[in-house]
Amino acid sequence: MKDTLRECIEGDSSYIPIWFMRQAGRYLPEFRNIRKENPDFIKLCLNPDLVNEITLQPMQRFDLDAAIIFSDILMIPYALGQKVEFKKGLGPILGNINLDVLINTDPVDFVQKLVPVYKGIEKVKKNLKEKPLIGFVGAPWTLLLYMLNKGSPKNNFNFNKINEDKFLINRLLKKIEEMICLHIDKQIESGVNIIQIFDSWAGLLPKKELPNYCYVPILKIVEHIKSKNIPAICFPKGIGKNYIDFCLTVKPSCISIDYEIDPAWIKENLKGIPIQGGLDPKILLSDKEDIKKNTEKYLNIFKDYPYIFNLGHGVLPEIKPETIEYIIQLVRDKK
Ligand code: CP3
Repeated sequence: MKDTLRECIEGDSSYIPIWFMRQAGRYLPEFRNIRKENPDFIKLCLNPDLVNEITLQPMQRFDLDAAIIFSDILMIPYALGQKVEFKKGLGPILGNINLDVLINTDPVDFVQKLVPVYKGIEKVKKNLKEKPLIGFVGAPWTLLLYMLNKGSPKNNFNFNKINEDKFLINRLLKKIEEMICLHIDKQIESGVNIIQIFDSWAGLLPKKELPNYCYVPILKIVEHIKSKNIPAICFPKGIGKNYIDFCLTVKPSCISIDYEIDPAWIKENLKGIPIQGGLDPKILLSDKEDIKKNTEKYLNIFKDYPYIFNLGHGVLPEIKPETIEYIIQLVRDKK
């Protein structure tokens, strides 16, 4: 296998690997076809044959450098016994938490519920001989937030309300951290080559709470991943200038930046940590000229720097597959 992601993360800037967050998903007609036949999203994530097929869909279409396993960060609350549903237009809806059940979930039962995910990884690995496979988890804060809020915090977030019951939060966080590490171990045993940690809602934390809820919990997970000689990419979305503090504390193998970060500024200030992503997914809805100009902006800033091309968040459902093809070509033409 030629793991161009690992080579880049270890400092090689002679080649720019490219993959996309949400590269398997609703912008692909072949995904929508499968989704139509499988209205229950969690069940879909627990079908190893379909996980294999969906993970490989973008690999068959495009010249990408890595696959990311088709799954979801909310498989952890699901395996902890919380109900998780995906309703069209509403995003995820979670059930009530039964703290006793949750805290007392036996790790053996947790893993048992996720065995189909690991079988899916094994299948993908068999079919993806030449390229690395990315596994992933949600960060403790983002998972805690979905679990307590029982859905997206997009419209109804109040930090003080979430932070009210310290006893509950500390017990939950401890359990979530343990299960994240276990889920990572099983993904690695099944064949993933790299782990990305998604802290999609880190930007909702007040600055003074970032160390408590974001940096320190992620640091523990990154150390766990590194101890297995696997690189850890971190995506603490929306924390602005605090990206620097995050990197000083956590020391990720690679940092994934969102579209609000000025790429030239972060390159100057990070001094060496490999960088991934950044381009605003919404740019992919504009015309070719705009797409080219913005893609090249990132390519120029990060030339001679270990950089993995990606977006500043996931591929949007409205993006045309041809646009993904076009960007890959722009990146390939660069070197
Ligand atoms: O990147 C990939 O191609 C791998 C698959 C993947 C999915 N979810 C599949 C998915 C990954 C890496 C995720 C991560 C994930 N899931 C995150 C972190 C990244 C981010 O986007 O911030 C979060 C916050 C979730 C939770 C989640 N899952 C939400 C909010 C939603 C609904 C809204 C949305 O963005 O689509 C999902 C559903 C989901 N997960 C879909 C897919 C392809 C869409 C399901 C559908 O067909 O309705």
